[in-house]
Amino acid sequence: MTEQFLSLNNINKRYAGVQALQSVDFDIDKGEIHCLVGENGSGKSTLIKIISGVVQPDEGAIITIDGEQLQDYQAIDAIHKGIEVIYQDLSLFPNLTVAENIALGEIIAAGHKFIQWKEIEQIATHAMGKIKANLPLDELVENISLADQQLVAICRALTHEVRLVIMDEPTTALTRKEVDALFSVVQDLQSKGISVMFVSHKLDEVFEIAESITILRDGAKVGTFPCKELDNEKMVMLMTGKKLEYARFKGELQSGTALFEVRGLSKSGNFKDVNLKLYPGEILGITGLLGSGRTEFAQAIFGLNPAASGEILLEGKPTELNNVQDAIGLGIAYVPENRLVQGLVMQQSVGKNLVITILKNLLNSAGLISQDKMKGSIDECIKSLTIKVPSADSPVQTLSGGNQQRVVLAKWIATQPKILILDGPTVGVDVAAKGAIHDIVRGLAAQGVGIIIISDELSEVYHNCTRVFVMHKGRFVGEFQTEKTSEDEIKDFIAQSR
Ligand SMILES: Nc1ncnc2c1ncn2[C@@H]1O[C@H](COP(=O)(O)OP(=O)(O)OP(=O)(O)O)[C@@H](O)[C@H]1O
Ligand SMILES: [Mg+2]
Repeated sequence: MTEQFLSLNNINKRYAGVQALQSVDFDIDKGEIHCLVGENGSGKSTLIKIISGVVQPDEGAIITIDGEQLQDYQAIDAIHKGIEVIYQDLSLFPNLTVAENIALGEIIAAGHKFIQWKEIEQIATHAMGKIKANLPLDELVENISLADQQLVAICRALTHEVRLVIMDEPTTALTRKEVDALFSVVQDLQSKGISVMFVSHKLDEVFEIAESITILRDGAKVGTFPCKELDNEKMVMLMTGKKLEYARFKGELQSGTALFEVRGLSKSGNFKDVNLKLYPGEILGITGLLGSGRTEFAQAIFGLNPAASGEILLEGKPTELNNVQDAIGLGIAYVPENRLVQGLVMQQSVGKNLVITILKNLLNSAGLISQDKMKGSIDECIKSLTIKVPSADSPVQTLSGGNQQRVVLAKWIATQPKILILDGPTVGVDVAAKGAIHDIVRGLAAQGVGIIIISDELSEVYHNCTRVFVMHKGRFVGEFQTEKTSEDEIKDFIAQSR
């Protein structure tokens, strides 16, 4: 017999111009693993913020936790009820140690006047013991891997009497092995009767771990389903109202002078002896596990992390590429992996973020910024990437995560690059938007842009690229023509090179 832990009824939330949630009901049982899915902007993060008391729902909501109906529900009530949220940015202090990050909140909450190392150590060790984690207690958090940082955030949650752990997109930056480890932690929590709720755009992972799945569309609940009743196709249909088709990109193999070429590019500790030719209108894929040197290589050809040796040629001519200015001057654009940090000014409007890279194209004959041109460009960007935003003047931080990603992409596409490097172009983006972004990339290729897609999602590079390179420990260890190879062959190759 399962018992209910939390029950929300009639949740509405309206922001200026947007109905983020509309009469949503949501329940979670004790010890249940419940996933929340939906397209970008469908209201997932808003629902989480309401459960954690950070955001208040509009009038008429009924919130019941552990059998008690709560009035004027606030963040402090959520904490008292044992609800802990782990946000995507983890909210850790990078310059404090692992133990301090885990224990300090608890010590401060208990109102202790003196803080003793022994006590910090005890609390941290105890919390880690609950999930059998083994982290270096006196290492600074900034020095440990992202996966370990996530464990720190989970352990911090476990210092209290926790009943429900909520994770907003916990796996976007994790490798497959780290995801496995996280899932075993989730199952461990479940076995202790703790409920776990999480949001993910990686549908395979949702099927792997969830018992129930709640689907949101445009702020309304489509339904809650036992995992067994859904498959990929059904779920996408319920999320988007459309059927998803994944057609393969067909580009022609070319020869002769490449648009862009690197020969023997090396940098010790990063990548070694990389050779690659990119032709106009070609989409090339680079895949490999996180930590294989893909991002370091991409940053090298964008001048962020210049190579120590090797040659770079543009249209057959040897070229210097020592900094970002060189790269931009050569018509190279780079959309970084960690784009929320590197790509956007969060407080600024969507419009300003979009035009920042193309300001000089917007000058009129008097050398002033043409407001008309600017407005035209902004409107075009928003339309072409279907960015869901009430107005171009809204600050970027009010957009949902996936829509923020689109702003960064749009911004670089607007520079009309000759060569476009996309590092994880659809991380955190919903299935329908993924397709839209792939279509845009293909459209750019059709106009002659040379494109490199770096992704750990094999199906993404397989379906969109003419050739796929597999990177491992800083080297290109395999090259495949997608027309002549099956996705499984490449998958097996990657598994063997681990
Ligand atoms: N503080 C805010 N001010 C105005 N609008 C907001 C605010 N927070 C969220 N919204 C809007 O509410 C809607 C739902 O956003 P939410 O962040 O809940 O989506 P999401 O399902 O988490 O999407 P994603 O998958 O992209 O993270 C979006 O249209 C968003 O722009
Ligand atoms: Mg979100």
